[in-house]
Parts: sequence; structure tokens; C-alpha cells
Amino acid sequence: MPYSSIAADQQFTGWSQRYDRSMLQRMLFEPSFRLLLSKLDLRPGARVLDVGCGTGNLLAWVADAFPEVELIGIDRCRPMLAQGLCKLGERAEFIQADSQALPLPSRHFDVLLNTHCFHHFPDQAQAAREMFRVLKPGGELLVIDGWRDGPWGHMIYDRLVPAFEGEVLHASRARFRKLFEEAGFEVLRQQRGGWFLPYLLTHCRAPLAGKPAVPAPHFKVVGRSATTTAAAEPLDVSVQGPHRRAA
Ligand SMILES: C[S@@+](CC[C@H](N)C(=O)[O-])C[C@H]1O[C@@H](n2cnc3c(N)ncnc32)[C@H](O)[C@@H]1O
Repeated sequence: MPYSSIAADQQFTGWSQRYDRSMLQRMLFEPSFRLLLSKLDLRPGARVLDVGCGTGNLLAWVADAFPEVELIGIDRCRPMLAQGLCKLGERAEFIQADSQALPLPSRHFDVLLNTHCFHHFPDQAQAAREMFRVLKPGGELLVIDGWRDGPWGHMIYDRLVPAFEGEVLHASRARFRKLFEEAGFEVLRQQRGGWFLPYLLTHCRAPLAGKPAVPAPHFKVVGRSATTTAAAEPLDVSVQGPHRRAA
């Protein structure tokens, strides 16, 4: 049966309260964030979008490293976003939306981030096209997901993870390259990290002169051009923070 985002919503709604205490944070997510941060060089005022931001952990790392950038997180799961809002308060904006139909203007962001969620997207080609649409020409995309090439990666990400998460699809290194090139990106590098839980970073750039962004019929700018419009209401959850991740 094809994977449905309803399954992802149920999984992450149930996991949201415990997500930040999961041992996967230390074993997989934090090492991968360190690799991603080592590739980031952001000028003050840069607009950064984290697609599938979950509880905002990566945004918190970026906020610490680059205090003067604009941060926006998008995720389908409201309880995950609510954790992010507690963590970052007004430092970031959180929007509940699907990666396959981003309620955001075209050519708007300098950098897009996407960590440990691409395998949940039922239409990965459409998600890649949406990321290309909202990125400025010359902007960069950094995607991290499980490395499923080779026998060990195959065992973990094609066998073990689907036993818990259902029919998710971890893309191979070659598939990531193909999906992003077809969406219009230039793939700058692909790098493996980790050994017990290996992960793959795919670093892309939107060419300065390349394929025009695909129009987005689901998105209309209403009134002045701002990140959020009537099509994308910022999340309205009471703020109990802000608190910082442990150093
Ligand atoms: C394993 S978590 C990763 C969260 C965060 N990126 C991180 O690295 O900690 C996966 C996230 O993807 C989100 N997600 C799954 N499918 C999605 C979709 N189609 N659109 C947007 N978010 C989605 C889930 O709600 C969840 O918060």
C-alpha cells in the first residue's frame, strides 16, 4: 500500500512529546546537524526555511550559529511544531503545511534545509519541485536522510525502519541526485556521515540562470509580499519558552 502522510501525522503526533528525548537525537540527528552546519555560511538577513522542521531542533542550532538570519519552519504535524515554538519563541516562524504544496512565495529563500523526513514524502519529485520553486536563483538546499546504499544501509533503512514507520522510502544516493537534477538543481556534493546509523547529505544549488520555477497553483500572494499570507497562517500556539537546547 502506498505511504500516506496521514500515517506520518499519527506517528509524529504520538511521538512529539518524547521526540527530543529520543536516543536517536544523540545517535543520528545531532551528528548529522553538525555535518550540515559545517557546510553553512549565512550572511546576516539571509532567509532560511527548514522543510519538515519537526520540533525545531535544527533551527535552534542555526539560530545559535547565525543570530542574524531569518528562520522559518514548516511541518505537517502541529504537535511537533508546538514544541518548536516553545523552544524558539519569536526567534522563528512556524507554519503548518505539507512539503508538497508549500504555502510560500516563489524565489523567496536563500537556503532550504530538510533533515530526516524526505523518506516520509509520498511524492518526492513534487517535494523537490516545491523546494526548487521557493528557493532564490543561486540559493542552496541541504538535504539529509538515511544512507540506504550498501548492505548495512539497506538492512536499516529498507528493512528495519519500515517495520516501525510503514512503507516509507529512503532514496538511494543516485535517486536523490536524479530527483533534484530533474527539479532544476545542480548537485554540488553528496557526502556520507555516521557509521552505525549512516546518513547522506545532498547539497544542491539553484542555478542563477536555469529552469524557470514551476508555477504554484495552490499559492497566491494576498496583499503585500510577505513570507506568510492568507494562504499560510503562522502557528498560533501559546509560547511557554523560550528555552535553549543543552550545549
Ligand atoms: C523524523 S522527523 C524530523 C524532524 C526534523 N527535521 C529533525 O531533523 O529533527 C520527520 C518530520 O517530518 C514531518 N513530515 C512528514 N511528512 C511530511 C510532509 N509531507 N510535509 C511536511 N512535513 C512532513 C513530520 O511531521 C516530522 O515532524
